Amino acid sequence: MTTRLFHISDVHFGVEDRAAMAVVERAVEDERPDAVICTGDLTQRAKHREYREAAEWFAALGVPVLLEPGNHDMPYYNPWERFSDPFRRFRRLQERVGGTLHSDDVVFVSLLTTVSAQLRFPWSDGVIKSAALEQTVEQLSRLKNEPRTVIVTAHHPLLGPETGEKNPTIGGDEAFIAIASAGADAVISGHVHIPFDEVRESGGQSMRLIGTGTLSTRLRNGAPPSYRVITCERGGRISTELREIAEVAR
Ligand SMILES: [Fe+2]
Ligand SMILES: [Fe+2]
Repeated sequence: MTTRLFHISDVHFGVEDRAAMAVVERAVEDERPDAVICTGDLTQRAKHREYREAAEWFAALGVPVLLEPGNHDMPYYNPWERFSDPFRRFRRLQERVGGTLHSDDVVFVSLLTTVSAQLRFPWSDGVIKSAALEQTVEQLSRLKNEPRTVIVTAHHPLLGPETGEKNPTIGGDEAFIAIASAGADAVISGHVHIPFDEVRESGGQSMRLIGTGTLSTRLRNGAPPSYRVITCERGGRISTELREIAEVAR
């Protein structure tokens, strides 16, 4: 048996790319994946209107939807809410359209990498607080003897693009080691708007890191909009197919 997922990220409602999203809509309709996973930056400025549009779009897909919050998903123009309850709007979206995936092949564990404020600039970069990491590792420890493949979902990549360079995600190196040691098979993420799929090593551990591009108009380094098909079997077997959305298709 296999479980097929569409991994999308960084749709950024408000500056979304409707033509690229239409390609995903058609593929969901034709191929009926077991779930669509979006690893954060659902909105551009966390406005109510952007969240409403996100809710409509995700609900219309008609398959289970798993969501992670990104740094753009906390209120931008309402500092009181940003600091008192940064994920309120995200939670409401999750209640409306978020689902769970019951699969014999794969199980997902979330890792929060987004904070409402930090002692550096830019605030957009990831921070993995020890409490967030502990929660993820605790869930992973309960899955230790699982035959199912275990995938951690996060918004920010745990490591920078190159080994040896400064990691923009604070706490990312420690998280990589802890999560790999706890038996996760892969981490999937977004944020950088550039896709990658590689086995990385750090602290004597190795683990697969998979990132997917954006479905917004915020393109970076010439990378086109993209999404990824992830096929999982038991025992940590994961195969992926990156689908870049060429301009001609949009
Ligand atoms: Fe983003
Ligand atoms: Fe982001």
